[in-house]
Amino acid sequence: MPESALSLETALSELEARARERIAAAAEPEELEAVRVEALGRKGTLAQISRQLAGLPAAERARIGRLLNSVKQELEQRLAARQAEFEQRALEARLEAEWLDLTRPAPGPRRGSLHPITQLQREIEDLFVSLGFTVLDGPEVETEYHNFDALNIPPDHPARDVQDTFWLEDGHLLRTHTSPVQVRGMERLRPPLRMIAPGRVFRNEEVDASHEHTFYQLEGMMIDREVSIAHLVYFMKTLLNHVFRREASVRLRPGYFPFVEPGFELDLECLVCGGRGCPVCKQSGWVEMLGCGLVHPNVLRTSGIDPRQWMGFAFGLGLTRLAMMRYGLDDIRLMQSGDLRFLRQF
Ligand code: FA5
Repeated sequence: MPESALSLETALSELEARARERIAAAAEPEELEAVRVEALGRKGTLAQISRQLAGLPAAERARIGRLLNSVKQELEQRLAARQAEFEQRALEARLEAEWLDLTRPAPGPRRGSLHPITQLQREIEDLFVSLGFTVLDGPEVETEYHNFDALNIPPDHPARDVQDTFWLEDGHLLRTHTSPVQVRGMERLRPPLRMIAPGRVFRNEEVDASHEHTFYQLEGMMIDREVSIAHLVYFMKTLLNHVFRREASVRLRPGYFPFVEPGFELDLECLVCGGRGCPVCKQSGWVEMLGCGLVHPNVLRTSGIDPRQWMGFAFGLGLTRLAMMRYGLDDIRLMQSGDLRFLRQF
């Protein structure tokens, strides 16, 4: 049955009103697309109305046809405008989420830092250089002569057993202390002389919280016309006060080393436990920090220095232990663990 122009006009204005409402209310692009399909799609309402135009008289058909076109254009414009709004909103959301400040400085590579023992060593070197000392280096693979004989430790001397030695097959050894650099220093420099020698030393011994098989020492030696225990004590105090930035609690006890006479051992109050007792100080409250004394005349003589004209003091400091005290470390093994979580703290 042919539709009347009136009913098509009504259908068009209803379509327009309903579609306008839904376009305005659409919350997302999918809803908008649904409106477009329903109203303007090939099988949509407008297409259905358009098919019914054929049943109208020619004049009416032209009028309703124009009306239909204007409804179509109107809806298309509204859909496009709303679609543009959605696109704009999506763009803004993306810009907000993917925002990048190109003027921000790049983070750059992570900066490393010096090992705590190296830091301490350099500080002590600077101090002693300011006090007129020269910094010497010596080999880690040593001769028996420099490590023992020239230090007044003959082959059958029990002191050789005290420092358990790693021997190499060719008769050389890994130095057990930095004292051979004293000998090399005396061979090279003529008195008066002041030298220090930091370096790595090796001992074939049991490892625990305060003992390593590989650790660092710092040797010191001063030779002049008049050198006394007072000089030795002065330099030791200056060294420790400098490292701890305050008066350090120390005790001096007699100690036996064949290359000094008299000889002493200096203990530092354990800074891990504050002297109360812990595994680092073996519950004693004190940590053995260095050996020292006045250079034995035999040692001077062996290196061609006349003990009737010259005298001196020498000391051998446990640098690794000093670093432990300085940073309050309760286990010496951390130092060479290579653990980055440990190293990044310095
Ligand atoms: C010596 O090595 C002597 N050469 C020191 C010396 C030099 C005395 C000059 C007189 C004159 P000793 O074996 O005590 O001495 O070692 C010196 C220091 O090294 C100790 O006081 C201690 O702080 C440190 N030390 C010794 N053994 C170890 C170890 N296994 N692990 C870490 N530190 C150690």
